[in-house]
Amino acid sequence: MTTATNENGVALERRGVRIVDTFAEAFDMRASRVIVTAKTPEWARTAVQTMTGFATSVIGCKVEAALESELSPDQTPDGRPGASALLFGFDAAGLSQRLLDRIGQTILTCPTTACFDGLPDAPERVIVGGHMRHFGDKYQSSRSLAGHRYWRIPVMEGEFLIEAKFGVQKGIGGGKKVLQRACVTCHDLDEVTKFKGYYTRVQWNDIVVTMEEYGADLADGEIDILTQYLADVLGKKE
Ligand code: HEC
Repeated sequence: MTTATNENGVALERRGVRIVDTFAEAFDMRASRVIVTAKTPEWARTAVQTMTGFATSVIGCKVEAALESELSPDQTPDGRPGASALLFGFDAAGLSQRLLDRIGQTILTCPTTACFDGLPDAPERVIVGGHMRHFGDKYQSSRSLAGHRYWRIPVMEGEFLIEAKFGVQKGIGGGKKVLQRACVTCHDLDEVTKFKGYYTRVQWNDIVVTMEEYGADLADGEIDILTQYLADVLGKKE
């Protein structure tokens, strides 16, 4: 563990309390990715911003969600302007319910939108449009295109289109962006997290250095950041 220092390298101490430079814990989560398209980029962005409101923590909000990026027409399934969002929950069932609530209350109700699964290769699938179709009061219809089922739900300004099922995959909560970026290209995160409580800080450092030699993409300084993170979160208690 290192102690936080100010720009002069002096350890921070406040009222006799040493402030330690550490990281947030990590925990297993399930992730989904939603693509929203609309007539204009403004409507797509507004829809996603509304959907991801009050979603800062799974503890208080049952979901963590945010805008991922805005998408140009050549990046979306229906060739219209769009935006993507990432949503994280504790498990697939909970995430499925959150998708249903949030898409139903914010995307369906936003003019000109359509909603697509952004993780077509994810192994687990949860029903979203398949439940939301009931908003159509029996006027809904379904269509299959290239192996995907879509529901068309009539709304005041025309039609809301939504994919029947959405992909859900494993994710990790907490502040370990380096781990998620650099340590998932050759093996699953499970290959790392299964050693929770098993390795000491020195051993985690050896592993990170070895993985960098194998080819893990780590920038200057990231070996230390990641070692500290792994020691704090997955480290053996010394
Ligand atoms: C270029 C491919 C590659 C990348 C990227 C990679 N690994 Fe690995 N990792 C491997 C291979 C191959 C093995 C199995 C062979 C071994 O254990 O040396 C492995 C095994 C492991 C193990 C198991 C070690 C044991 O004791 O059995 C851990 C832990 C691990 N990696 C962590 C990481 C971390 C942390 C990162 C991110 C910095 C990472 N890996 C990125 C290739 C990679």
